[in-house]
This record gives sequence, C-alpha cells and structure tokens, in this order.
Amino acid sequence: MSEKSEIAIRADGLVKRFGAFTAVDGVSFDVERGTLFSLLGVNGAGKTTTIRLLTGLLRPDGGHAEICGYPAGSTDAARLIGLSPQETSTAGNLTVRENLIMTAKIYGFHDAAARADNIIGRLGMGEFAGRKSKHLSGGLRRRLSIGMGIVTEPKVLFLDEPTLGLDVIARRELWTFLEELKKSVTVVLTTHYMEEAEALSDKIAVMANGAVKASGTLAELRTVSGSAAGERLENVFLRLAEGGERR
Ligand SMILES: Nc1ncnc2c1ncn2[C@@H]1O[C@H](COP(=O)(O)OP(=O)(O)O)[C@@H](O)[C@H]1O
Ligand SMILES: [Mg+2]
Repeated sequence: MSEKSEIAIRADGLVKRFGAFTAVDGVSFDVERGTLFSLLGVNGAGKTTTIRLLTGLLRPDGGHAEICGYPAGSTDAARLIGLSPQETSTAGNLTVRENLIMTAKIYGFHDAAARADNIIGRLGMGEFAGRKSKHLSGGLRRRLSIGMGIVTEPKVLFLDEPTLGLDVIARRELWTFLEELKKSVTVVLTTHYMEEAEALSDKIAVMANGAVKASGTLAELRTVSGSAAGERLENVFLRLAEGGERR
C-alpha cells in the first residue's frame, strides 16, 4: 500500500468557506513521516478548520488533502489518523479505562480492553485508570484525550491545542510524552506556546487569515522573516503573523 509514501500529510490548496467568509484560503504544506509539525497562528487564523479538513470532518470547497497517499475523508485515511480535538471530548461519567475501551470499540477493535490497558501504561495513568474523567485534573483529562487519539494506533496524530490551560508542570509532562510519541507517530500540533513549538517541532507553519504565511524549519523561518540567527521563535512568529486576525 502507499503507506510507504514518505509524505504522511499533503495539503494542496485547501479552501474552506463558511458562507461569505473564507476560513482557509489555499493552504498547502507537506508533513514528512515520523516528524512533528506545528501549526501556529493567532485565534481565528484557521488552524482548527485546517485540521478538520485533514481529518475528514469537513469537506474542502477547493484543493485536496492526502493522508499517507489516501484522500482525506476516505475510509483508508480515517483508519490511519487519530485526533485529540481542541474541545477535549472525554465522557465525564466514564472512567479513564472505559473511555479508552469505548474509543477502541467504536473503531471496531476486538481487543479493546487490552489496547486500553496498553495505553494506560504508556500514559503513566495506572493509578487513575478507575477514575471518572470528570474527576481528573485538566492535565490528566488532556492526557486521556491524547490516549483516546492513539488507542487505535494511528500513523498520524492531530493534537489541537493539547496544552491549553495546563499548568507549567502538566505542560512539561505532556512535552515529555510528546517527545516519546513522535518517535512512532507523525504528529500535527497546534499551540499558542512558542517555546513548546520550538522545543518539539521539526517543521512549523505560521498561519494568518486562513493562509500559510511561511513554513519550514525554525532556521528557514528565521531566514524568510529576516530574523537574526538564533532568534527565538516568538519573535520570528510575531514578524510572520503580522496582520493576522486577533480576538
Ligand atoms: N463552523 C463555522 N462557521 C462559521 N465560521 C467558522 C466556523 N468554524 C470556524 N469559523 C471561523 O473560521 C475562522 C477560523 O477558525 P479556526 O479554524 O477555529 O481558527 P483557529 O483554530 O486558528 O483559532 C474563525 O474566524 C472562525 O470564527
Ligand atoms: Mg483552533
């Protein structure tokens, strides 16, 4: 199968309109397998809409996207992806273990319980396995949400603002986990924390007003933005995202 493609994600001229408003305006980028790609941009830049197009939750009005060579939105592509959405969607009255089992069952896995236990181990959540998700801290709930994204063993994982609202310790714990995770899965991450993107990303795309202003390695972004060598991502981002919509 074309899972041997070195490109895990290809976005080619994606367009999405909501009525007269164009939320995603010709977005193109490639994400290589086994890398972590960060989508950065101020609120309203179009990051979540782009992720919805890539995961097949929305149909584009123009352009197309592929996951490991399969059209985004196809059954073959859906089988390869995991998603931890911006609005964390764990079932509050179910325990950590039950949430994971439910997700694996929805995807048709017969070994759902074994998969859940494997993920609980990888997440380091053994002592919380029997706790209802509504009684977890924000950091642990977010970690569970990521677990629900990987219980199906995706090739490509989308994490939309996974560290939003987490305290410094929970955020650092999640970074460590993402460092481990990116060895086995291609990851697309959105975040407002520039030091996070700087620490974890292989490549970065800066979006503003539905368009990609620049993408590449941090060194490449420094060059296109006219920044000095060694400049922090935060300053590079501010130069590139200028003119972006603000809330
Ligand atoms: N379902 C929708 N209907 C109308 N407008 C939407 C919808 N979803 C997103 N938008 C608008 O599209 C723009 C991009 O939103 P979004 O992709 O969520 O941005 P980001 O994730 O970068 O904050 C925003 O102006 C938002 O209000
Ligand atoms: Mg968003």
